[in-house]
Amino acid sequence: MDALNPCDRAGSALDLRDSRVYVEGRQDKVRNEETLPRGLFITFEGGEGAGKSTQIRLLAERLRAEGREVLTTREPGGSPGAEAIRHVLLKGAAEPLGPTLEAILFAAARSDHVEQVIRPAVLRGAVVLCDRFIDSSRVYQGITGGLEPDFMTALERVTINGMVPDLTIILDIDPEEGLRRAAERRGTETADRFEKEALDVHRRRRAAFLEIAAREPQRCAVIDASGTTEAVSREVAEIVMRAMSERAGRSEAAEAGNV
Ligand code: TYD
Repeated sequence: MDALNPCDRAGSALDLRDSRVYVEGRQDKVRNEETLPRGLFITFEGGEGAGKSTQIRLLAERLRAEGREVLTTREPGGSPGAEAIRHVLLKGAAEPLGPTLEAILFAAARSDHVEQVIRPAVLRGAVVLCDRFIDSSRVYQGITGGLEPDFMTALERVTINGMVPDLTIILDIDPEEGLRRAAERRGTETADRFEKEALDVHRRRRAAFLEIAAREPQRCAVIDASGTTEAVSREVAEIVMRAMSERAGRSEAAEAGNV
């Protein structure tokens, strides 16, 4: 089997770190990246109204106060190309064309965002905080959109080209409470194409996020988002600080030639 051919590997178990190089031409680039100093890539996931953007803002303030370079960004969007696609997706213009086309549009936006914004920032040592990433596609398009797991896996691999989050924080909230909060925040604006779906769909999404966290405990941390903003932000900070000290420990060990 040709290890560089994503199609051959599409049915294999999902291990993105193992499959970071799928395009022959990008192989040297990825190898070089592994030897460079690297920041941290943290994604925030969860259902509607879980408080991701507030928690990202609070964490960014905290890390900046410590003197770190922090980049906050979001999906769909985050780069000029991806923001143009965001508009099409959230207004529901692609909805009548089916879930496959929507999934590919999310992927196109993500690929541009990764290459234009996320990868360069992480490579120069910044901490990148991203509101939604691969897990939203896995859940919204894959699980509740009903798309084939093999198709979603292959699409994800091509889209992120090895840019797997170092840490994913899943803010977990009862969908009824989340939708209430989202409606309150939105005011008189109409709900977007995904928020307006039935409560049962939001419940299935919550379960799917928790399932991902259970399958990938080394990457994902679940936080109960029903508490106060302050309590949730304390928990977020603790998890991030732990991830940072683990990363620092690994770098020191690597420098000392112990790994
Ligand atoms: P947004 O207005 O950014 O809201 P939220 O606060 O919920 O993040 O809306 C993004 C919507 O797009 C959200 O309903 C989830 C959906 N989405 C997907 O369906 N797939 C994806 O890959 C991403 C990134 C988002």
